[in-house]
Amino acid sequence: MSQPHAASASVSTSVTVSPARSIQGSLRLPGDKSISHRYAMLAGFAAGVSHLSNFSSGADPHSTLACMQALGASVEKQPDGALTITGCSGAFRQPQAPLDCGNSGSTMRMLAGLLAGQSIACTLIGDASLSRRPMERIRTPLTAMGAEISLTEGHAPITVRGGSLRGLDYATPIASAQVKTALLFAGLQASGTTTVHETVTTRDHGELALRAFGAELTRQSLSVSIRGSQPLHAIDATIPGDISSAAFFLCAAALFPDANLVLDSVGLNPTRAALLDVLRGLGLRINILDLNEAQGELTGTIQAVGNPLGLEGAEISGALAAQLIDELPVLAAIAPYTRNGIRIRDARELRVKESDRIALVARNLRAMGASVEEFEDGLDVPGGQTLHGAGIDSGDDHRIAMAFAVATLRAQGPSQISGAEAAAISFPEFFTWLDRLAER
Ligand code: S3P
Repeated sequence: MSQPHAASASVSTSVTVSPARSIQGSLRLPGDKSISHRYAMLAGFAAGVSHLSNFSSGADPHSTLACMQALGASVEKQPDGALTITGCSGAFRQPQAPLDCGNSGSTMRMLAGLLAGQSIACTLIGDASLSRRPMERIRTPLTAMGAEISLTEGHAPITVRGGSLRGLDYATPIASAQVKTALLFAGLQASGTTTVHETVTTRDHGELALRAFGAELTRQSLSVSIRGSQPLHAIDATIPGDISSAAFFLCAAALFPDANLVLDSVGLNPTRAALLDVLRGLGLRINILDLNEAQGELTGTIQAVGNPLGLEGAEISGALAAQLIDELPVLAAIAPYTRNGIRIRDARELRVKESDRIALVARNLRAMGASVEEFEDGLDVPGGQTLHGAGIDSGDDHRIAMAFAVATLRAQGPSQISGAEAAAISFPEFFTWLDRLAER
């Protein structure tokens, strides 16, 4: 496999992936992207100096760090790789330039929540992909709390003029952890109590992070409430390995009957770990060792062993689709190699991620010779198919680049993935590490 060169927004890199015979080895993954964003924001907001080990190596959480610095937090990298972040004690300074969120929807949406309670005016900008993504979902509730937010035709650039907020009781119409977290970050600074009601439980890293930094929250099945005016204190934490990055290697292991893969200290938060159940249902044999808990987040070592009988099929819809939203592209990409295929529904949100992931998965699978049916909210990928190597288009979307690097391991003949450098958005080490694990 050739390696992508240094990631750059303007240079498109093509990587050649050759078929593999197996996946073997062990790894420790960089820190979870969702947790890294939240800890960076809350450490930048809190009083005191936080120490964060195993912070994500992805470009997105580094966009968040740069925004926090522009808002007055100080960020230093220690010789052991850990970050120390000195927070602003609840009061950001007025930045001198627009805050650049890069490719990161999490940065833009969650930071808008934190900024909504600050007496400053900030403009948030992003790259071409981020500037197409829907932002009304945060404008409506944050405006109802008293912030002034203007969008550009429903998108970024966004201007947030924050100030005194009042608590809000809000039912989110879309299952989105980013929106929930933005409202809790705003609610932390509001008068009274803010309650967010969800239709399905989305990832709860925002709630756990707020508690770790000292806030009190109350939860009741699908609702979470936060009282305003609670001070936050700094923390020392090690960020669990990213289960959404682990997903690519686990799906790669699932493709090979004699695969043997060990992933150390992976985040196993129950709102993120549905992938393990789906992979077990497909036939991958998974053991969890060394379970631990810190800051409310579970971690464990995942051992995955291939199944000589191959993979069954799966049906993913309803709440499961929302909980697996970031893993659906790679599951769809390996579906042709299962016996009964994979059917995905209720995943319309995939169309407004870093790319239209439903369209791009279908297009790339067809390029490899697969038959696939596309629906407005999902895909039907039949099983029992043989795929050939092809030219794959990442669409500048990290999860598409990595999903197809996995799918092409079982194709007949090599494939070229263009825009492979997009992987660096969440996982810069991906191609090097996949090469290390793949036996050829
Ligand atoms: C994330 C939530 C999800 C997910 C994204 C990260 C988060 O987005 O797709 O990669 O960290 O809260 P939505 O909130 O838009 O569902």
